Amino acid sequence: MSAGSLDVRVARKSVEAEGICSFELVSVDGAPLPSFSAGSHVDVRTPGGATRQYSLCNDPRETHRYLIAVLRDAASRGGSLAMHEQLREGDRLAISTPKNHFALDPAARSHLLLAGGIGITPLLCMAERLANVGAEFALHYAARSRARMAFVERIERSAYAARVQLHFDDGPAVQRLDLAKLLAGRAEGRHLYVCGPKGFMDAVLGGARAAGWPEAQLHYEFFSAEPQAARGGDAGFEVQLASSGRIVTVPADKTVVRALADAGVTVATSCEQGVCGTCLTRVIEGRPDHRDLYLTPEEQAAGDQFLPCCSRAESARLVLDL
Ligand code: FES
Repeated sequence: MSAGSLDVRVARKSVEAEGICSFELVSVDGAPLPSFSAGSHVDVRTPGGATRQYSLCNDPRETHRYLIAVLRDAASRGGSLAMHEQLREGDRLAISTPKNHFALDPAARSHLLLAGGIGITPLLCMAERLANVGAEFALHYAARSRARMAFVERIERSAYAARVQLHFDDGPAVQRLDLAKLLAGRAEGRHLYVCGPKGFMDAVLGGARAAGWPEAQLHYEFFSAEPQAARGGDAGFEVQLASSGRIVTVPADKTVVRALADAGVTVATSCEQGVCGTCLTRVIEGRPDHRDLYLTPEEQAAGDQFLPCCSRAESARLVLDL
């Protein structure tokens, strides 16, 4: 793994819920791990060779371990499946140092945390942090059933248990997540943080925008993307490297990153799903066709940067700051 990489050992692997395992990672030499802030993730080189991002879900004051949790995804391209089936206690693993694209806003006066399924991981870390500093917050955690909900005991034993409401899709109607009611609670200085499956996030963010929440008070992180890079009807286009003037053709069936790699031009990548932001590249001319889940709607509309691991072009050519 690149600079900023860590060599860790799996100290404990636990089943947290149906289809969800947690992994406690410690440094190989026993030294403290780099500190992290709530909302951080690490890139993990999975046993299958793929790199995946997993949020840290332990208390951010801890430096003796990182805790991650992984949902076994039936449609896994090797990441989550390899973590579940191949990784064992005692195994070593290459991970990145923590990165944070989903930080708590220091200006927020109160925080509404909404978790769907495995999306609880960064929000659990946020809840720990907010409770530690005595900040105002509420956490709503929705899952299909109690059996599929990870970390319930930890939450129920925590000092902030009274601030958490659990919602089960298969439970009585009275306890189900009432988004319209929650999102009507918009207020000056109240910030919303959401993580979960795409359908859940679309519902939360769509509801919040419809209820008038300002974009600056919405914070979100997609933990996995549906493959969007290739769509029927995609056309080829050209990218031009601003530094040399060189033109590279991107065929309909290749990503910009792949076409550039074939031409000997390397763009650093990690998730290759438009989620992590590693490949962010400045666009000097042309109109990108954004397919990522990383940029905000405003950033996408500005059109001056894009994620070439998945996004394409609306114009015949993009001039890139490469
Ligand atoms: Fe993660 Fe492109 S590599 S967004």
